[in-house]
Amino acid sequence: MASGPAPIEDASAIPDALIDRLSQARRIVVFTGAGVSAESGIATFRDRNTGLWERFDAHELATPSAFVREPALVWGWYEWRRAAIARAQPNPAHRAIAQLANSVAEVCVVTQNVDNLHERAGSKQVVHLHGNLAQARCIRCGRAHKHAVQAPDEPENGRAVEPPRCRHCNSLVRPGVVWFGESLPEDAWQLAADMAASCDVLLSVGTSALVYPAASLPRSAAARGAMVIQVNPMATDMDRLAHFNLRGAAGVMLPAVVANLENRVRGAA
Ligand code: OAD
Repeated sequence: MASGPAPIEDASAIPDALIDRLSQARRIVVFTGAGVSAESGIATFRDRNTGLWERFDAHELATPSAFVREPALVWGWYEWRRAAIARAQPNPAHRAIAQLANSVAEVCVVTQNVDNLHERAGSKQVVHLHGNLAQARCIRCGRAHKHAVQAPDEPENGRAVEPPRCRHCNSLVRPGVVWFGESLPEDAWQLAADMAASCDVLLSVGTSALVYPAASLPRSAAARGAMVIQVNPMATDMDRLAHFNLRGAAGVMLPAVVANLENRVRGAA
């Protein structure tokens, strides 16, 4: 794995230089992946043993052709995930990210996650690059399908569930996520790219940063002079690019960063 600046493993030793830059930033982008929700009990994709793509075949579940071939298998799998998300609560990392906005002029969360835990923790500006499991839509006319408000019964992992039919054109309703081989939602991508190109600091939290085009965002922010701070308990390909590698759980590292920042801002006032 790529090397980079020496990782910081101790949450009580957040460097002053990192807090300096955060306290001076006008715009911060927080780029998140599945790891930010791991401490809420939601599985990541690529962590050894527990990652979804370690246990399930993405080609059978997360492609347009899989849905055409086996709609009930695909819908059932996403209902299983939607149930897990509905039961989950935001964790200290989501809350720290929401709290950042109290100390910085502008914070934009750009997430690859399809849960809504950032919003539930109080983040106001959240861009969903890979869709949102709460927003199913018709495969033909694209109209939104309203899910039942309550959490669905958890279908047993792997159990087929017939997808609902569109009330307007009777076609199948599909999960509101981006599948492999599909483009990202145009508006979300444009906004995320603009934010990454114009931010002072980009925090990359809980992502392996392997899936493009999303993974190009920290790289383009760094190329334009932004400070990149990575928060991840494991080394990733981003290590070499990041100016700081906080090597620990997001739910431990981010509250420490925000507490330091709040102290700095209060001290300066
Ligand atoms: P990955 O599963 O690829 O990476 C999750 C990262 O989170 C790993 O680098 C872990 O080390 C890290 N991690 C685990 N626990 C953590 C914790 N407590 N705090 C901080 N980090 C932690 O997930 P993503 O990078 O989100 O796309 O994957 C990107 C995309 O690939 C997903 O959006 C999904 C997937 O296929 C689509 O479905 C289109």
